[in-house]
Parts: sequence; C-alpha cells; structure tokens
Amino acid sequence: MRSVAITNIGRLVTNDQSIGAGLLGELRNAAMVVEGGRVVWVGSNGDAPSADANIDAQGRAVLPGFVDSHAHLMFAGDRADEFAARMAGEKYAAGGIRSTVAATRAASDAALEARLVSLVAELRSSGITTFETKSGYGLTVADEARALEIAARHTVETTYLGAHVVPAEFADRGTEGVDAYVELVKNEMLAAAAPHAKWIDVFCDRGAFDADQAREILLAGRAAGLAPRIHANQLQQGAGIQLAVELDCASADHCTHMSDADIEALTGSNTVATLLPGAEFSTRAEYPDARRLWQAGAKVALATDCNPGSSYTTSMPFCIAVAVRDMHFTPEQAIWSATAGGAAALRRTDTGHLGLGARADLIQLSAENPIHLAYRPGVQLIHSVHTAEDFN
Ligand code: NIG
Ligand code: FE
Repeated sequence: MRSVAITNIGRLVTNDQSIGAGLLGELRNAAMVVEGGRVVWVGSNGDAPSADANIDAQGRAVLPGFVDSHAHLMFAGDRADEFAARMAGEKYAAGGIRSTVAATRAASDAALEARLVSLVAELRSSGITTFETKSGYGLTVADEARALEIAARHTVETTYLGAHVVPAEFADRGTEGVDAYVELVKNEMLAAAAPHAKWIDVFCDRGAFDADQAREILLAGRAAGLAPRIHANQLQQGAGIQLAVELDCASADHCTHMSDADIEALTGSNTVATLLPGAEFSTRAEYPDARRLWQAGAKVALATDCNPGSSYTTSMPFCIAVAVRDMHFTPEQAIWSATAGGAAALRRTDTGHLGLGARADLIQLSAENPIHLAYRPGVQLIHSVHTAEDFN
C-alpha cells in the first residue's frame, strides 16, 4: 500500500487528546503518515518515518476535514427576494419552504443533480469532507424518493425529511389534510424513501409538526431501519429537544431556544446539540448561547444548514466565525464542533479527527494557527483539501 508523509505541519489538530494538547489534541512542528487512506503515524516532524511520497505543509496548520452534519441540498430555485424582505423587517416562518417545494417539483432530475454537484463543490472548497443532505422539498412520494436517490449517489449521509412542512394541497384541507399527510409520511412515502436514506428527520416547530406527530413519524422511520434526528426549537421553545433525547436521536438541530431542562436532558445523553449559526444570521434571529451547553458538558456540533430559505451558505469557516463571535464558542470549541462534533452528530468515528486509524480527510490552512478561521472572517484560508480516497 502506498504511504504518504505530510511533513512540516506548523500545528496539527488531531482532536485526540492522547496525542496532543488541549481540546483539539494539538501538536506543533508535527508530521503524519497516511497509508491506504488511513492515518498510520502522527508525531514530531523530526521523527517522521520515510514514506513513498511526501507533502510539505510548509508550516501550515493541518486539521481534520469539516463534517457538515446538517444540510438541505436537494432543491431548485432560490429565495433571494424573501431574504431581502426579511432584511427589511419581515419575520422568518416555516411556510416559506412551500415556495421551494413548488420549484423543486418542477425541476428535472438532471437540474436537481446539477445543483447538488455545484453545492458539493462549494462545500469541498470550504473544507467540508463529509456532508449530510436531507430531502424535504419534494413532499410527494415520488419527489422525496427521487431526491434521496440522487443524493445517495453523492453521500452516504442521506436523510428523509418528508415531515419538513405540510404541503399546500394537504394544508388547504385543514386538520383532516394534516392528519392525512402525516399518515402518508409514515407509510407510503417512508417505504419509497427508506431504500435511499440512512436517517429520518422531522421539523418539530411552530408552523411545521408538533411533538406527537414527530414521535409517530420518527418511530415509524426507526421501524423501517432509519435512525432519527430532529429539527428542534428553532422558532420557539418546545418539546423537540427532549423528544430527541427520549428517542436517542443522533442530534437535536438548531436549539435556538433552550430551557435549562433541555440542556439537562442533553447532558449525559447520546444526542448532540447541533447549532446552525447561518440560520440565526440569515433570519436575523437571536443566537443561542453555546456557553450554556459547554458548561453543562453537552456535546455540540456546528453545521451549515445550507438551504435556500434560512441559511444559504456552504461555508463552514463562516459558521465557525459567527459561532465564536455571536454564540460565544471559544475558537477551539468551534473548530472541535465543526469536525469531531459533526462526526458525533452522524455517529461516525472514522472521520472528524486525525488519530491513528482515522480516514485521512484533512485540510491544510493558509495559516499556521487554526484560530485564524475565526480571527480572519470572510477570508479564504482553505489552502487544500484531501479525503482518504485521494491517498489510495
Ligand atoms: O433548517 N427549519 C427547517 N428547515 C430549514 C429551513 C427550510 C427553509 O426555510 O426552506 C432549516 O432552517
Ligand atoms: Fe435544517
């Protein structure tokens, strides 16, 4: 098997505290060796064993590739006018999703896939090496299934989000229509989506689905072999976070509104609190205070939430900068959350760190200090990105 040494690393973020210092398991003047796409050696630059090939990092920082555990990339059209109206004072509401649903249903498979491919290229250039994507803008049996089938060609982390919002043709029929849509989501639509999905998600919030509907849908998904996650407490305080813990969801996402009881439930659970700074930024909402989660010992992830309504960004460095500035993460906590935290939110142990055995998914920064990701907002600092496959 071909081995590749990466030498002259100014600061190496391993996220493995048995290897290096602090939360990020950082080593200075470091080197690492990759074989068969996996990390096989990490240590001081001076001790680096010889390898078949060498990459000279020239003092740059090296860190694990970002893991984007929450994105909505299967859509057509955009909502630039809605964004402009919001910046002029309109409030964000779940109902805006329906305009993207109309555009998505009208798009061809080729157009949906082309949009996905271009967004994935953007993710990669922002340092993201693993990404999740949800369906949720088709909301018919055929449109949800095709979104997931296309998505599954590009990532293993696919999420069925038939319960994003009740589409207009059901919502117009009042309570009977809503009940009929929930039945569809947990039966025929789930059956069509499940072969192409790993996860199931529900938008449990004002204007979307309540906690009882979310529980029913997630339990049906679990019975079909999908693992649950929840959009929880974005628009108001609610039962979503505690439901996520009750169902052992991999993550409760958004957590914009958190009670002390929510934080207590997350602490000690196996559910990651995934914060989405792009959503508060682009909906001009109040940011959650991440210090409450970190102080309580809850596990935290950062993700882009890339979608055309509430967070049309593919930039993890942007999310890190906003998380530090407005959510009160320390720079180290934000970097951890965008790497190891994202991996935990996808229940992955093979990526999000650069300890022995990890996939060689990594970023070289155009800076020696990884803190520059927050300190130099809006500056392209991603020098280069590799995934394990590049080393085979
Ligand atoms: O994560 N909150 C629900 N879903 C998306 C927004 C979808 C939209 O507005 O199109 C989110 O923010
Ligand atoms: Fe989302």
